[in-house]
Amino acid sequence: MARVLLVTGGAGFIGANFVHYWLAKYPEDNVVVLDALTYAGNLASLDAVKDAATYTFVRGDICDQALIEKLLREHGVDTLVHFAAESHVDRSITGPDAFIETNVIGTHSLLKAAKKIWLDEGQNPENHRFHHVSTDEVYGTLTADDPAFSETTAYAPNSPYSASKAASDHLVRAYHHTYGLKVTTSNCSNNYGPFHFPEKLIPLVITNILHNKALPIYGDGQQVRDWLYVVDHARGIDLILEKGVIGETYNIGGINEWANIDIVKLICELMDKAFASDPALAQRFPAAVAANAGDSQSLITYVKDRPGHDRRYAIDPAKANSELGYQPAETFETGIRKTLNWYIDNTDWWEKVMDGSYRNWIEKQYG
Ligand code: NAD
Ligand code: DAU
Repeated sequence: MARVLLVTGGAGFIGANFVHYWLAKYPEDNVVVLDALTYAGNLASLDAVKDAATYTFVRGDICDQALIEKLLREHGVDTLVHFAAESHVDRSITGPDAFIETNVIGTHSLLKAAKKIWLDEGQNPENHRFHHVSTDEVYGTLTADDPAFSETTAYAPNSPYSASKAASDHLVRAYHHTYGLKVTTSNCSNNYGPFHFPEKLIPLVITNILHNKALPIYGDGQQVRDWLYVVDHARGIDLILEKGVIGETYNIGGINEWANIDIVKLICELMDKAFASDPALAQRFPAAVAANAGDSQSLITYVKDRPGHDRRYAIDPAKANSELGYQPAETFETGIRKTLNWYIDNTDWWEKVMDGSYRNWIEKQYG
């Protein structure tokens, strides 16, 4: 039977990739995207689906409970997939308030609306699902020898961002235990891929190489992250919606740990090779070091460390593997190549984000 999804944060990095994945795989389902279009939201990321009859975009805030209730009621939503969040750790250090507002208050507003419409008003007491998209950062930090995070690892968030996500995870859990809301939660490792906002490490490095800007490495660059291609995250959520047990949480990851400095060096090497094998790139990006047969690694610049910087994240995906049959489809080799090529082929998307012209367009459209 066709489903009706409400996807919050669908104009963000992972949300937009999820919407593409979902509409391609389940063209009979209706997808309503709710997004506030903050600095991180980008309608251009949804251009490819904007004319689909099964797709609707609504600009709005997840803190607006009345709006959520209206959307759940009027569209007959049975599945809510909640991506909307303030997501950048550095911004949470300089301005935590927005993180509490969206990630905690906003998630609670969604839970209240879902409970009211699906349970209290009886629109769909049996076949509803509230899927909450969370992060591995709620588990805190690991030493080099610690085992990877499992679903039973104690929460120990270290940044205002991860603390706000941890709070939202607890609220989701509580709405299941107390009211019987049918919830699932996924805690995923670092994602990379198309439509990733160029303030995050991988897209920042790619776009800075192309614009001949410094590649900032925080501290000693030995912090470790566990990288997953974004479409493999969407596939994991799909499996949880299909086979996940209500009330459970699932860790999603691809067992792919990299020290930051190594991943930056790898991207430099891949970019230099791309320039060497395609002379058209030097024409398109004449400022790039690689356009003049230089070494992109010369752009690496060590800078002051992030306060409270978590040393290592690693996800143990054994539960998702054994209970859901989850396996990532991309290797890191294939995923990072796709990502590099996407940024090379879609300069319009990221240059508009970076020079502010996308923001100006939003203001004209929506005021
Ligand atoms: P993002 O910052 O790229 O996108 C967030 C989206 O939410 C944007 O489109 C923004 O406009 C929207 N938004 C923000 N505040 C809103 C509000 N109050 N109301 C409605 N919309 C609002 O984030 P992302 O990287 O795509 O992350 C999506 C989710 O996945 C987040 O919940 C994040 O915690 C989680 N997550 C991210 C990663 C990662 O590596 N990026 C890994 C694991 C989990
Ligand atoms: O682990 C999942 C999390 O991954 C998500 O929950 C977050 O939403 C997402 O932003 C991401 O958080 P990180 O802090 O790990 O990602 P970020 O890209 O900001 O940084 C990755 C690593 O690179 C981190 O150790 C900090 C470092 N870094 C980052 C930037 C932007 C640098 O060394 N230099 C930089 O300029």
